[in-house]
Amino acid sequence: MCGIVGYCGPKRVVPVVLEGLRRLEYRGYDSAGIVYVKDGKLVKHRSEGKLARLEAIIGDAIIEPSHTGLGHTRWATHGAPTTENAHPHSDCTGNLVVIHNGIIENYHSLREELKAKGHVFSSETDTEVLAHLIEDYLEDDLVSAIKNAVSRIEGSYAIGVLWTGMPDTLVAVRNQSPLVLGVSEEDGNFLASDIPALLPFTKEVIFLDDMELAILTAEEAKVFSLSTGEELKKTVTTIDWNAAMAEKAGFKHFMLKEIFEQPQAITNTVSGRINLETGEVSLPEVGLDEEEVQKIDRIFLVACGTSWHAALVAKYWIEKFTGIPVDVDIASEFRYRHLIINERVLTISISQSGETADTLAGIRIAKKLGSKIITICNVVGSTMTREAHGTVYTHAGPEIGVASTKAFISQLSALFLLTLFIAQQKKMISLAESNERGKELIDIAGIIERELPRIQKEVQSLIEGFYDCRDFLFVGRGVNFPIALEGALKLKEISYIHAEGYASGELKHGPIALIDKDMPVLALVPQDHVYQKSISNVEEIKARLGRIILIGTEGDEHLKNITDDVIYLPKVSEMMNPILYTIPAQILAYEIANRRGCDVDQPRNLAKSVTVE
Ligand code: G6P
Repeated sequence: MCGIVGYCGPKRVVPVVLEGLRRLEYRGYDSAGIVYVKDGKLVKHRSEGKLARLEAIIGDAIIEPSHTGLGHTRWATHGAPTTENAHPHSDCTGNLVVIHNGIIENYHSLREELKAKGHVFSSETDTEVLAHLIEDYLEDDLVSAIKNAVSRIEGSYAIGVLWTGMPDTLVAVRNQSPLVLGVSEEDGNFLASDIPALLPFTKEVIFLDDMELAILTAEEAKVFSLSTGEELKKTVTTIDWNAAMAEKAGFKHFMLKEIFEQPQAITNTVSGRINLETGEVSLPEVGLDEEEVQKIDRIFLVACGTSWHAALVAKYWIEKFTGIPVDVDIASEFRYRHLIINERVLTISISQSGETADTLAGIRIAKKLGSKIITICNVVGSTMTREAHGTVYTHAGPEIGVASTKAFISQLSALFLLTLFIAQQKKMISLAESNERGKELIDIAGIIERELPRIQKEVQSLIEGFYDCRDFLFVGRGVNFPIALEGALKLKEISYIHAEGYASGELKHGPIALIDKDMPVLALVPQDHVYQKSISNVEEIKARLGRIILIGTEGDEHLKNITDDVIYLPKVSEMMNPILYTIPAQILAYEIANRRGCDVDQPRNLAKSVTVE
């Protein structure tokens, strides 16, 4: 959370930094700020609220002929989202500024120490401590002062520093918060929390690792080890995303665009990984051979948020097709519980960003205990992909809407492929069956593409009766139960309607007490092996006058006897239902939030990439 951007080069710095921040706003939008060098002095603009407010304040300064600067978009941790707490933060002289993503855990004691020495603080943030700490060590060598300062701090940080003593240079340090450099011979050098900020300028990037320090000028980007001081030879990676992928392409919101990109996301994730003549799934990138797969006697799936819902679906698939017992953990619980893990356990982390703090901590613990780690991830080169033994990339492209949609669908696709792969290595599935299952996955992309416009129209006409309700229940059974959870999460995060997901069979154990004529319930009722049970549960809701929306199988006329609000979906194989049934749930959440006038892409209090605990 928090987005940081830096630039040194021939372009005018203000537009470059603002463009970068615009593409990182999904990381936080409580306040924003920018700093650049003018006539040897630092000029700072800051504003509470979204970037648009900062842009209004900047006004004509956009054309300042300055070529070095930093910017920040904030997700508040310490201190309210006010202008005073917005980054960049300055030292006492105003000649040195810091932007920061992360948490400085020992900031309180450092602040007291610095205050006692006479430093004057002007914000409530943990970050400001860093500016004063660097100032305290600074004589004429900025890099040494930064090294001394970071040696005193505990916590996670990606920081950018600008000082009038070196007005053409940026210094950056990373420890447990993401930081990537963009390099371009023509356009200079860049610094950012995430790749989308760099895409309009360069596709050549260098990922910083923990405890590394970078020095950027217009001509060079050098990286050093913080512990040895030695200059490091870092690999330059070429990113295959382009800037247009991070634009709205005529859609009202990124979320809607991303929902419509889901068929392509499935195709891109699956393509080239299954041989449709032999049925063989090939995933050399996971680095697991037959012998290793044979040894696995338990699988842990670890993730947060929507990615955790993908894990819950995968449990049904993996247990059914491979016979290996699966535990699914929320990463923030996993990392603090007593884990029974050894080298026979395979741990799979699922993360769109590859930077989620709890998920990263979880895999580090599992790795120490001897487990092999595979990550399912969307961001090339992210920390998780570098720490895991193997990565299955989802090829969803950049996801900008804070509520995850296409990343979820491509996680499901990758997890299904991984399931088939493990089942094949274990000889638990024939190649013929694998081929059939693979084809079903590929076909689902075409089905979604065909059905999406109709589903959207039908949802638009039914939400009039539901958009202003206060609560919502989502229910499903079996492999669709996690989709009920995901539907409820989508609705609550973007529309602020209180929504809960339940396993249909659990209703009687409490939630049914909530049902009355004002309680809408969306039930997923495909014609699968638990169909009759699901219908009985829906009848129980109807008997208590609940307002029901049903998502079910085309041709199931019985559903119309229960409610007028039915959305039909084509019949597909039972194991593919979670992918298909996600679509109307996402659209319902989107259309309701849009109808309520909510800020769909940037819901309040949320950030897309959660890099703090
Ligand atoms: C945040 C995002 C969610 C995401 C979760 C996990 O809460 O808003 O959309 O599912 O983090 O993120 P990850 O990048 O690890 O999938």
